Amino acid sequence: MPLPKDFLAQSLNRIQPSPTIAVTQKARDLKAEGRDVIGLGAGEPDFDTPDNIKDAAIAAIKRGETKYTAVEGIPELRAAVAKKFKRENGLEYQPNQVTVGTGGKQVLYNALTVTVNPGDEVVVPAPYWVSYPDIVNLCEGTPVSVVGPENNGFKMRPEDLDAAITKKTKWLILNSPSNPSGAAYSKKELRGIADVLLKHPQVWVLTDDMYEHVLYDDFEYWTIAQVEPKLYPRTLTLNGMSKAYCMTGWRLGYAAGPVELIKAIGALQSQSTTNPSSISQAAGIEALNGPQDFIPKHNAIFKTRRDLVVKLLNAAEGLHCPVPEGAFYVYPSCAGAIGKRTPQGKAIETDTEFCEYLLEAVGVATVPGTAFGLAPHFRISYATSNEILTEACTRIQKACAALR
Ligand SMILES: Cc1ncc(COP(=O)(O)O)c(C=O)c1O
Repeated sequence: MPLPKDFLAQSLNRIQPSPTIAVTQKARDLKAEGRDVIGLGAGEPDFDTPDNIKDAAIAAIKRGETKYTAVEGIPELRAAVAKKFKRENGLEYQPNQVTVGTGGKQVLYNALTVTVNPGDEVVVPAPYWVSYPDIVNLCEGTPVSVVGPENNGFKMRPEDLDAAITKKTKWLILNSPSNPSGAAYSKKELRGIADVLLKHPQVWVLTDDMYEHVLYDDFEYWTIAQVEPKLYPRTLTLNGMSKAYCMTGWRLGYAAGPVELIKAIGALQSQSTTNPSSISQAAGIEALNGPQDFIPKHNAIFKTRRDLVVKLLNAAEGLHCPVPEGAFYVYPSCAGAIGKRTPQGKAIETDTEFCEYLLEAVGVATVPGTAFGLAPHFRISYATSNEILTEACTRIQKACAALR
């Protein structure tokens, strides 16, 4: 039975139906038909959560830590987060400047919801993680996309940021290393961004450092409040357990910033999900305070996969795949395939059509760049085995060679 007219909130109209859904649904349909489909869309490490972290969760259950906790997280976890920021980023945060949520995504959602008023602008460098503009839209804010061009390593130029800032700009969202491009900002590049922000005291920075630990080739990681301490009072530094600690299903993320902002986030969370899972929090303490030695081991594996995928994709006709500094994604250009025709005579006009073709012709599911605000590109997650990646990229090469 259809819902009564006007039953659904108008705010839902402000979320774009995700272009990724079409491809994902198609992959599902093809699999259901028995087709051999390789999915390269996953946004999570294929490694299991380390045993010491699992054991900490089991011990918490056995100790009976199965009740509600403080909304912003238990004191031990907030302290572990503060210690992490000091140890890894040289940032001084007190535990009352830390909030913990059900995934970094909830913390991001909370932070934007408690600060963005209708008409406020939020600068979102493109290519961006799809949730940024949609959450801003839900808050009735205006996402302002600033392209980080491929010839600048998909990173936003300071002058382009400066040109995009208006009196209404409330936030800049930075994400380094980036989903979807894998691009990471060097200290010098962050310096350039910081200099622009110093000219605009009304603009706050939400830095999403979720992929901080997934970096290659000795890339030196910096976060913006560390590069420019004057920005510290207007920075929210966001991070989480999902990627570095292989804990996507545990739903645990955190942020640190000015106490009043942290309190506002807690107030909103107290009326939605309350605390993140008590068991995940116990695991999170072990993740942050326990051994970190598996991180370089995982990165060494990711790096061989990155190099494999970049090599195979650059050998495909019409594709160009830059080497990303971090995360587990590549973001190749398919500009050389646009304007060509499939063996069936269908014209490829967009990256979405290119990705549809890859799925239909050779059974490889990727995500079109249009979803991330920079076309014509597509995103491949290489968080899967070398065998699967080799097979997938070989199929992509064949599909590209068949275009005319
Ligand atoms: C850039 C970025 N930020 C934040 C998140 C959210 O991660 P979680 O909610 O699992 O902590 C993701 C997940 O894909 C991401 O890619």
